[in-house]
Amino acid sequence: MRLKGKVAIITGSANGIGKAATIRFLEEGAKVVIADIQAEEGKQFEKELTERGYDVLFYQVNVAKKEEVEKMVEKVKEHYGKIDILINNAGITRDAMLVKMSEEQFDEVINVNLKGVFNCTQAVSKVMIEQGHGKIINTSSVSGVYGNVGQTNYAAAKAAIVGMTKTWAKELGRKGINVNAVAPGFTKTAMVDKMPEKILNYMESITSLKRLGEPIDIANAYLFLASDESNYITGHILHVDGGIMM
Ligand code: CAA
Ligand code: NAI
Repeated sequence: MRLKGKVAIITGSANGIGKAATIRFLEEGAKVVIADIQAEEGKQFEKELTERGYDVLFYQVNVAKKEEVEKMVEKVKEHYGKIDILINNAGITRDAMLVKMSEEQFDEVINVNLKGVFNCTQAVSKVMIEQGHGKIINTSSVSGVYGNVGQTNYAAAKAAIVGMTKTWAKELGRKGINVNAVAPGFTKTAMVDKMPEKILNYMESITSLKRLGEPIDIANAYLFLASDESNYITGHILHVDGGIMM
């Protein structure tokens, strides 16, 4: 029970990595807010987990919308009385080569993957500052650290996560708040299902561990950074990528 009694908001948790993290956090004793834009999948997931006896709350939110995020944070504070952990996991791709990328593709990714993380962290950090403690975990990517063909928008946002993580670690450390990021490699979710098979196979072939990541591999890294075991770690970017690039 590494998260006994802790309240965690996990964004983008109706699917993929966030879904695996929700289950992992519940198993370790946390109460989890499933914060996702997809109402149907979110409600269904909430129902399944409630039936299994877990304490969860689904909240439909578009992280790119500041007002929606602020309302969510108010609601969570009212419902659970505190917020111990924020996992900024929601993310999207709109891949295209630089010369073909539309302004809309660029803006959509920046709004969700960058501004969404800013919106959630700004709102939640105010609660954490009042409490005098908190753990914030952001989600970067191998693409943000090393770049990736077809991902100008996504790599820009995921690189920005590195800068924001270190900035917030410096700003919020004195308030008792740890801020870290996980940089996953190619992981088996709907996000990589959209990739051309040839490219995904190539990515797997250059990964030292010779396999793609499983959502649970990333969820376990979130868990470590959310637990007391990482209390003296802040401003760190934890690469969970099977050694794809070093
Ligand atoms: N790495 C290396 N080469 C790549 C590449 C990549 N990631 N993506 C494309 N290429 C190569 C293609 O093989 C192709 O090479 P040739 O001209 O020699 O055949 C060339 O670049 C042009 O590609 P396309 O013909 O496919 O061009 P397109 O305009 O039709 O499509 C694209 C461009 C949408 C970017 C498409 O290639 C694509 O989807 N690529 C994959 C991009 C990718 O890796 N996305 C990761 C998604 S998962 C994720 O984002 C999670 C995470 O954090 C890692
Ligand atoms: P996914 O596509 O399986 O799940 C993403 C979830 O985010 C979905 O439930 C979706 O509804 C939600 N979401 C999307 N936009 C939202 C918004 N505006 N507001 C609220 N929720 C929103 O993706 P996956 O793979 O689970 O990705 C999770 C995180 O991990 C993302 O930040 C992604 O960029 C990152 N990542 C994923 C990698 C991979 O290979 N799958 C590799 C590196 C990073």
